[in-house]
Amino acid sequence: MIVTADRPKILLIGCDGQVGWELQRTLGIIGEVVATSLCGGYGPALDLLDRHAVTAMIQRIRPDFIINAAAHTAVDKAEAEAEVELSHQLNAEAPEQLGILAAEQGATLIHYSTDFIFSGNTSKPYREEEATGPLSVYGETKLDGEQRVLASGANALIFRTSWVYGNHGFNFMNTMMRLFKERDQLSVVDDQIGAPTWSRMIAEATAQIVNQLRLDPADSARLQGIYHLTAAGETSWYGFACRIRELMDVECNIQAIPTHEYPTPARRPAYSVLDNTKLEETFGLKMPEWQASLKLCMEDRSH
Ligand SMILES: NC(=O)c1ccc[n+]([C@@H]2O[C@H](COP(=O)([O-])OP(=O)(O)OC[C@H]3O[C@@H](n4cnc5c(N)ncnc54)[C@H](OP(=O)(O)O)[C@@H]3O)[C@@H](O)[C@H]2O)c1
Repeated sequence: MIVTADRPKILLIGCDGQVGWELQRTLGIIGEVVATSLCGGYGPALDLLDRHAVTAMIQRIRPDFIINAAAHTAVDKAEAEAEVELSHQLNAEAPEQLGILAAEQGATLIHYSTDFIFSGNTSKPYREEEATGPLSVYGETKLDGEQRVLASGANALIFRTSWVYGNHGFNFMNTMMRLFKERDQLSVVDDQIGAPTWSRMIAEATAQIVNQLRLDPADSARLQGIYHLTAAGETSWYGFACRIRELMDVECNIQAIPTHEYPTPARRPAYSVLDNTKLEETFGLKMPEWQASLKLCMEDRSH
């Protein structure tokens, strides 16, 4: 990565999440980062739902980039009636406000979305322009967020990613690693296919893109839109679990089961692999295979 003396100001929102945590480590190389989270800690506290505080923060900092890694990601919890409004506010209304403020300030907004905006009724990787069809409240609110951000007038880049894991946070990898130590036998769903993506890879790709855009701010306007940004390759949750077990080198019998034997409040797409071609062609970024990233992530954990 080439870093010039002209460092952009970056406002990071949600720096304590899986992706946010990696972003606040990575972005410091290329810019002056104000890293905010709900409770503070790494930097100022900022509640994305506090519209006045968000406006005041953006007007005070006058960032070149606003990066929104905060979201309501509790996919099953979001199905409960009491959570729907919160999910909508965080995943749709708040990103829209960020878009409007970014447009007013001339900042570029980077926002994340999900493979769960698709129905999964296919067997080949989704391109950005393909028809959406969310099956869950989470997917619906994230799709609404995408549309509001795109309509906000901001120069906005939306990165759709999938099956995020990392050493920091609550995710499938960490759950499996714990369960492999506690149990001799596990059942894992084998008929949902996706691309497990290490949060660090998302952060590093984002940083490289911010670095490219800041060299010519006009690029943000030209290149705004939706991009798929996931690890390469595909697997099932069962395949993901087997690879984790192999890398841990532990004994545990994993039984492959169909989705209907593991009912959850939210429906999930059966096939939600995203095609990264647009990302590769636009920014020259080749995302690594999921198996290689997982190995690196687990090695990083033991350091
Ligand atoms: N996780 C996945 O598998 C996945 C898959 C595809 C796409 N994505 C997308 O990728 C992005 C990052 O996801 P992630 O996995 O990093 O999510 P995450 O680990 O759940 O982090 C989300 C962060 O948002 C914060 N947050 C919640 N309410 C907030 C508020 N009112 N104000 C400020 N911060 C608030 C959370 O703080 P608390 O923890 O304190 O509540 C948390 O730190 C999201 O847009 C998500 O939709 C995620």
